Amino acid sequence: MSSQAASPVRVAVLISGTGSNMAALIDAGQTADSGYDVALVISNIEDAGGLAVAAAKGVQTLSIPHKPFGKDREAHERAVDAALRAAGVEVVALAGYMRILTPGLVRAWEGRMLNIHPSLLPLYPGLDTHARALAAGDAEAGCTVHLVTEGVDEGPVLGQARVRIIDGDTPAALAERVKTAEHRLYPQVLRNFCQGLVRD
Ligand code: GRF
Repeated sequence: MSSQAASPVRVAVLISGTGSNMAALIDAGQTADSGYDVALVISNIEDAGGLAVAAAKGVQTLSIPHKPFGKDREAHERAVDAALRAAGVEVVALAGYMRILTPGLVRAWEGRMLNIHPSLLPLYPGLDTHARALAAGDAEAGCTVHLVTEGVDEGPVLGQARVRIIDGDTPAALAERVKTAEHRLYPQVLRNFCQGLVRD
């Protein structure tokens, strides 16, 4: 329908750190016909580097630190959820958001929340993915964009990019090459996802 083509899907990106994937998502969203627009960036870390990057790109930013909520993860996520809804967000992209989400937030955004993970899932969910791929003697590494479900790094895969492992690779060197692949993959997948979205 024409109204669907006319208004880009409103995306929020959740970060905890430097936000290089977030920057790639914002940049791609700001190109013509991307079909989505990053309308909001939220960080649980007050001084996350990505917040300034997003603001410089003209994107609204919000810091919702988890620390004041203590052990009450649900209360923190209710605040995040309220901010997402207040901004009219339709799709959430996790990009280096270093929190394991509670079932409440996952269910609230089921089918509309994506994550990028630095491995070829189902291989190496969790942390230290590059060191684990190297220790296993794998020939390739990569990254995965998937829908977020209650199981950590377990949701349906939407896209993957492969990176060859080379002699003498270190976790840091591999991470850098995988990051380059992430910056291409995530915007592509998000764009396809938003273009295929049936909107309420
Ligand atoms: C990326 O490697 C991503 O796959 C993982 O966290 C990292 C975030 O990096 N989930 P950045 O903040 O986007 O640079």
